[in-house]
Amino acid sequence: MSSKKINKKKEPEEAAGAAYLDRELRPSNWNEYIGQKAVKENLNILIRAATERGVPPEHVLFYGPPGLGKTTLAHLVARETGRNLKITSGPAIERVGDLASILTNLAAGDILFIDEIHRLNKTIEEVLYPAMESGVLDIIIGKGPSARTIQLELPPFTLLAATTRVAMISSPLRSRFSGGVFRLDFYTEKEIEEILRRSAKIMGVEIKGDAEREIAKRSRFTPRTANYFLKRVRDFAQVEGRPINLETVHSALKLLGIDEKGLSPSDRRLLEVIADKFGGGPVGLGTLAAALSEEEATIEEFNEPYLLQLGLIERTGRGRMLTPHAYMHLGITPPASLQKKLL
Ligand code: ADE
Repeated sequence: MSSKKINKKKEPEEAAGAAYLDRELRPSNWNEYIGQKAVKENLNILIRAATERGVPPEHVLFYGPPGLGKTTLAHLVARETGRNLKITSGPAIERVGDLASILTNLAAGDILFIDEIHRLNKTIEEVLYPAMESGVLDIIIGKGPSARTIQLELPPFTLLAATTRVAMISSPLRSRFSGGVFRLDFYTEKEIEEILRRSAKIMGVEIKGDAEREIAKRSRFTPRTANYFLKRVRDFAQVEGRPINLETVHSALKLLGIDEKGLSPSDRRLLEVIADKFGGGPVGLGTLAAALSEEEATIEEFNEPYLLQLGLIERTGRGRMLTPHAYMHLGITPPASLQKKLL
């Protein structure tokens, strides 16, 4: 099995070599993959059944907040089936020709992973439908009345795709993921602790139980965040010549601006703006994004899932609203209308 990134542009972090450690921390087989039990069980059946029949597994879509392991699952599916993994992303496929070139370069049985598939444009999406459904590529040559279509037969392949914005996936595309559409959930604190123990071992650092629990508690129920915090705590301990204990975790996370619930400065600013500028809401996403000088997508994909999970905000038909718990967390007295909810 080999995996190959076919994006034209390199991620800045990867160029700097930072991704190597992330790759090391990624589970290399099914048994090392912690959590997401239902998704794992379903994928296992899909893979085993296809392998027994000697065909590539059917196409699968993963969705859920960032950092929960969608790309990791693609690597594991490739590994379990012994197939090659080719990796690209929605924004990297700018023209129909880009997709045509990717598809025609696949070998029989390859797995193609398209990350951020919600960012594929409609014209390209339409080229993907027959490729997924019937294994053919329809290419239009020429324009106007003399335009004609040629059809290329593609080798059998499996498309694995991932998105943080499942609502942006059109229903025709969604329905072509015949192997399944799987939602990745936030991890439990216990699962995050297990992931941290494994990562600490790989990094060769010793971490006490209470320090590990503290990182887990603040990790947004997200493995990527947990591993990021562990690395920053390790750096802090190394530079300050300290052991990785509870006190070091407190100091390192304070320096990063992460509070005791794991909220980042941008999460807190979002809550404060709703409280101060919009009387606690409801406020529409566009208005909120403008007030924060932030992208709507960043708020929806990154901040909101965790704030909703913690019960600090609610999404109503008229917009986002703070809950009484958010006021308590910010140390602000809730408006009288919300106070009775706290009793
Ligand atoms: N690293 C990232 N996600 C993981 C998971 N689900 N299990 C183990 N390590 C991980």
